[in-house]
Amino acid sequence: MADLHQFPDISRVLISEEQLQQTVQRIAQEINDTYADAKKPLLMVGILKGSVVFMADLMRYITVPMSIDFMQASSYGSNTVSCGNVNLRLDLKCTNLQAFNVLVVEDILDSGNTLSCILKYLKSKGAQSVRLCTLLNKPDRRKVDVPIDFEGISIPDEFVVGYGLDYNEQYRQLPFIGILDPRVYNS
Ligand code: IMP
Ligand code: MG
Repeated sequence: MADLHQFPDISRVLISEEQLQQTVQRIAQEINDTYADAKKPLLMVGILKGSVVFMADLMRYITVPMSIDFMQASSYGSNTVSCGNVNLRLDLKCTNLQAFNVLVVEDILDSGNTLSCILKYLKSKGAQSVRLCTLLNKPDRRKVDVPIDFEGISIPDEFVVGYGLDYNEQYRQLPFIGILDPRVYNS
């Protein structure tokens, strides 16, 4: 169990390390089952930066042929495409998406704006299939409907950090997912 005295900005642990590992293994099993007979290899596309910890854990349980790539959603920068108020930095190194079954790996699905833009973009590039895997889901805040193929844990409308998720680039290294004390962002 995490000792919260080390993390005074966290008001409580929402998802423990043990729960996260069980969830990762359960999702990996679902992914392995889904792609067991696939004709084309899997390309796991992590959305930077929040997905990196989840991605690193998840990929170690994948048994079907696969490779990884990353994209970044940002509100500024060059080499971007936009939909609505979301801009994508085109960081994909892979140029022949037709050769892959694409699996987008995300930390959390919140309003859905970012992911609906990313999924639309990847489909337009002709991937064999495009599916979505998200560790967390905050359904109360959804503005755009985004179908989830592999879902970790549905959470209430609280601002969470840890296991890759940040507030102002902080707290990504926490091994659990915790609720950030509102005094941190209200002060
Ligand atoms: P949306 O679904 O387009 O609203 O954006 C989702 C992105 O917002 C995620 O990839 C996270 O980077 C960020 N985000 C949403 N909710 C949280 C949270 O509770 N903690 C940390 N980041 C969050
Ligand atoms: Mg993110």
